Parts: sequence; structure tokens; C-alpha cells
Amino acid sequence: MPTPSSNPPGQQNFYEAIGGEETFARIVRGFYQQVRDDDLIGPLYPDQDWEGAEQRLKWFLAQYWGGPQTFSAQRGHPRLRMRHVTYSIGTPEAERWLEMMKVSLDQIEEETLPPAYRAALWEHMERVAAMLINRPV
Ligand code: HEM
Repeated sequence: MPTPSSNPPGQQNFYEAIGGEETFARIVRGFYQQVRDDDLIGPLYPDQDWEGAEQRLKWFLAQYWGGPQTFSAQRGHPRLRMRHVTYSIGTPEAERWLEMMKVSLDQIEEETLPPAYRAALWEHMERVAAMLINRPV
């Protein structure tokens, strides 16, 4: 299974292997296209800053998977749990987030995002989503 640190000398890391910036941009664009109109989690997002939100998620994912450290440069330490405490996130919100992300990942062709890479991305997203739940029900 590919990991963020799979970066033997002279070989592509995870970020590069799936097409770098362009692929991460597609993943978050496809996700946010749905979030904007979503009845459950759409209202949690800042209505005036969709582009900014898209950038922040892209920077975070790209950085995690071995791309440029733009998230840290622009936003500081990720501290994702802390950054989500102002939003009420229960299991339904986490499931909705993942559902929409799955739709977006489905739109990326296998030649760009081979199954093992997709599985690794997905496993990380599921893990983070579960960690961000801050409401009992
Ligand atoms: C569990 C359901 C989730 C909900 C309801 C949720 C909701 C939100 C909202 C409302 C924002 C503010 C948008 C902005 O202005 O940037 C945000 C930001 C963010 N979310 Fe989530 N999120 C969820 C899961 C995740 C997951 C799974 C990840 C990572 C894999 C993630 C990564 C981020 C990042 C990086 C930011 C930007 C933080 C910053 O720079 O301030 N979120 N999220």
C-alpha cells in the first residue's frame, strides 16, 4: 500500500505518482461542487469563501501526501480537530462528507488514480473524518 513517505531516491512520491497539483485540484473541486448545494453540511461552510475553502483542503491533502508544504506556510500547524470544533460534526455529517468525497474520487480515472492509491487516500480520509466527530449523535 502506498504511503506518504514512499519516496525512494529517484522515484516519484505519492503526490507526484497520482499527477500532483492537478489531481488534488480535481479531487477537491469535485467535492466542493457537491458541498455547496448539500442540505446537511453545505450550511456549515463559509458562503463567501468557497474558493478559499477549496484551496485549504487541497493544500492540506497535497502536503500530507508529499507535495508542497503550502498548507503549513499559509495556515500553520494543521491541528484539524481544533479547526473543526466550531462546527457541529456527528456521524451523519462525517458520513455525508465521505459520501461526497467518494463521488469525487469516482470521477478520477484509474490511470490517474490507481486502486491502491485511491484506497490509501480513502483510508486516510475515513480516519480523519472519524477523528473530527465532536458531537455524540
Ligand atoms: C467529518 C466531516 C467534516 C466536516 C463537516 C467538515 C467541515 C469543514 C468546514 C465547515 C470547514 C471550513 C471551511 C474553510 O473555510 O476552510 C472545514 C475546513 C477544513 N477541513 Fe473539514 N470537515 C470534515 C472533514 C474533514 C476531513 C476528513 C478532512 C481531511 C481529510 C478535512 C480537512 C479540512 C481542512 C484542511 C480544512 C481547512 C482548515 C483551515 O485551514 O482552517 N475536513 N471543514
